[in-house]
Amino acid sequence: MTSVHRDVETATPRETAEGETPHPLGELSEQDLRAHTAEVLERARRRSVELTDAVGDDDLVKQHSKLMSPLVWDLAHIGSQEELWLVRDVGGRDPLRPDIDDLYDAFQHPRATRPSLPLLGPSEARSYVAEVRNKAFDVLERTPLRGRDLTRTAFAFGMIAQHEQQHDETMLATHQLRKGDPVLHAPAPPPATARHLPEEIVVPAGPFTMGTSVEPWALDNERPAHEVFVEAFALDTTPVTNARYAEFVDDGGYGDRRWWSEGGWSYRSEYGITAPRFWRREDGRWWRLRFGVYEPVPPDEPVVHVSYHEAEAFAAWAGKRLPTEAEWEKAARYDPATGRSRRYPWGDDDPTPEHANLGQRHLRPAPVGAYPKGVSAVGAHQLVGDVWEWTSSDFTPYPGFVAFPYREYSEVFFGSEYKVLRGGSFGSDPVAVRGTFRNWDYPIRRQIFAGFRCARDLRPGDAGV
Ligand SMILES: [Fe+2]
Repeated sequence: MTSVHRDVETATPRETAEGETPHPLGELSEQDLRAHTAEVLERARRRSVELTDAVGDDDLVKQHSKLMSPLVWDLAHIGSQEELWLVRDVGGRDPLRPDIDDLYDAFQHPRATRPSLPLLGPSEARSYVAEVRNKAFDVLERTPLRGRDLTRTAFAFGMIAQHEQQHDETMLATHQLRKGDPVLHAPAPPPATARHLPEEIVVPAGPFTMGTSVEPWALDNERPAHEVFVEAFALDTTPVTNARYAEFVDDGGYGDRRWWSEGGWSYRSEYGITAPRFWRREDGRWWRLRFGVYEPVPPDEPVVHVSYHEAEAFAAWAGKRLPTEAEWEKAARYDPATGRSRRYPWGDDDPTPEHANLGQRHLRPAPVGAYPKGVSAVGAHQLVGDVWEWTSSDFTPYPGFVAFPYREYSEVFFGSEYKVLRGGSFGSDPVAVRGTFRNWDYPIRRQIFAGFRCARDLRPGDAGV
């Protein structure tokens, strides 16, 4: 580890607040905040509808992979969580469907068993989520957005919008696993315009503010802001590309025990893994399946659908390692000119299509160099959007962590079972991605839209040493 957590007790609230920029949502009038919140919820719903209307009823109730729920489960679960938090808790209204609470409790039923439950059918699920949404909007209209932690700055509404978008990304992953003709369509991402980028950037040693205490819709695991000292390190300017990853594959990387951890090697051996998921070698070149389209692997795009174990093995082969979570966040947020941590790599403004490949606008990562306006203050490209990036860090609480609004949000997942992923993918909505956002998953997961970039300790003679 190259980072050291300092004693949080030494950071006074004033020092912490100085390390971050105040958030614009907190400055909106209640009326504007309500309008903004409604728009974010509506955007999530449009996407849920698009993902579920794209296929027929048979495909909605079917399990396309044991790793995933039927799409109709995700849809009704979205409504169920919205009912629990917004209609019942915030609104204090009577339950609409208390009889189905248990069916849509993710902790009660693992994904593999969900198809055998007496789930709501497609049309029932559609009318249920619409009814819940009507009530939730009524609650939004009548609830003071101050005072109670759950409703201050519309937190619970923001949490539910993020929850829906996260399930939309999960449903997008189900679409990727689904067999059959393409049903989703989107324009190609922008081409690379930043060319001849250096392979690495150097991030200087020093403290920075990690996490947040000011982002109103940040989740419990992103809090609180705290100072972390990070040694100087080098980080890849961009995520690892398909071309570079193919070099590792073609060099026999999957068969060379040297590059793999013990857990990674046994995983790779047990499942017979020889390339990223959805890749196939044919006529001497690599092809991939992407949302029903079979196509040559594009060399300049970030590699996607690799597990943590594969990312770690590639990094060892390249003479590097994966960045820690603190290193990733420092490269994304730290501005050496001000000493502050920004909300996003490019600054404090919400993401636009010029900054990053987010929100399922495109059904693939963009080539490296496609988002020069999204560059971070220390020169890293495409940290946000395109692909989630595996870090070497376990999912653990920050010093001063307080579970909110319930233990099952994050706390029950803390520990060494999960690795942290950062930055969001082309399938993540802007409401569910920011410089502080933490995702976590098992190190064997490959169906998610995850890639990575490498880091390394500096050597004598490197710039900045
Ligand atoms: Fe959920």
